[in-house]
Amino acid sequence: MGASAPPFFCLKFISLVIDMNKISPPHEINEIKGTFLHKDVVSLDQFDRKSVLQLFSQVKKIKKTPVKKLLKILSGKVVALLFFEPSTRTFSSNCAAVKRLGGATIEHQNPMQTSSVIKGETIDDTIRMIEQYSDAIVIRHPLVGTARRSAEVADIPVINAGDGIGEHPTQALLDMFTIYEKFDTLDGLKGLMVGDLLNGRTIHSLIKGLSIFRNNTIYLLAPKQLGLSKQDFKEFKSRGINLVGIGSLKEIPTNCHFWYWTRVQKERFDDKKEYEKLRLSFILDKKLVEERAGIHTLLMHPLPRVGEIKTEVDNDPRAVYLTAQPKNGMYVRMGLFSLILK
Ligand code: CP
Repeated sequence: MGASAPPFFCLKFISLVIDMNKISPPHEINEIKGTFLHKDVVSLDQFDRKSVLQLFSQVKKIKKTPVKKLLKILSGKVVALLFFEPSTRTFSSNCAAVKRLGGATIEHQNPMQTSSVIKGETIDDTIRMIEQYSDAIVIRHPLVGTARRSAEVADIPVINAGDGIGEHPTQALLDMFTIYEKFDTLDGLKGLMVGDLLNGRTIHSLIKGLSIFRNNTIYLLAPKQLGLSKQDFKEFKSRGINLVGIGSLKEIPTNCHFWYWTRVQKERFDDKKEYEKLRLSFILDKKLVEERAGIHTLLMHPLPRVGEIKTEVDNDPRAVYLTAQPKNGMYVRMGLFSLILK
């Protein structure tokens, strides 16, 4: 199988609207280093321990702040949401986060159909236009590197809401916050990641995020065609995180702090028969939870799910994919906006 562009965007069309070779004024993507103000968020590479914990402290504060006070934080500010790929959670939670902080949004869902991109406008020009009207841009795009490129082009902060099979940093931050809220630490964790590790941008960002902390071990379970690429595996290992490949559900250690299930990503496949063969390779059901989960193991999934978690698991108190994870998605994004745009 090969990772490929999604069917709803042909590569030829993408090459028309994005010119990655175009020379533009350099705009560095800075590390956060404890100062979020006016920074872009395109990768977990920008974060260190101090910055993650600073964000989480802000998120905890926001959760306790009265609504009236929250509404002043982004009063008069406008955030543009440009989603070139479909989204339920990331779009809605960013939208809710801005509005709950008193800001307003410009919303483009499916700009390939509804904006001047359809007339051939480049991503660079689109970003340069949108920054005239807004204080920050949240962008999702099927092509790896587009968020970074947008951040380089724009003079306002750009937040990566998912770039193809690359990264999804705010999802990783909300996942890490959910784990942190439960265990009060991000050190010394044992986690399990299952599914499409090759194409899963949430997986890539979460491994990077957990690598910032000490003594973490992640067990990796994927169909052999969908394991981490050799390059990613080597690069992630070099960050000091312990990555352990396992071959079956029976090998899942019974003392994990969290299980992180993911869907096999249909839109990244050229061969739909291959997708059908692999999509339900590993199913999370009640029996598996009874046999291999610990009493405190968080059952996580970035969603959407397409059959790989049975609905019979939904009411298990350890299951957070329909509750704490999406809720924290909104709060973590509120935390980020409040620090970046204050
Ligand atoms: N978790 C996530 O990115 O979901 P959406 O694709 O619905 O935004």
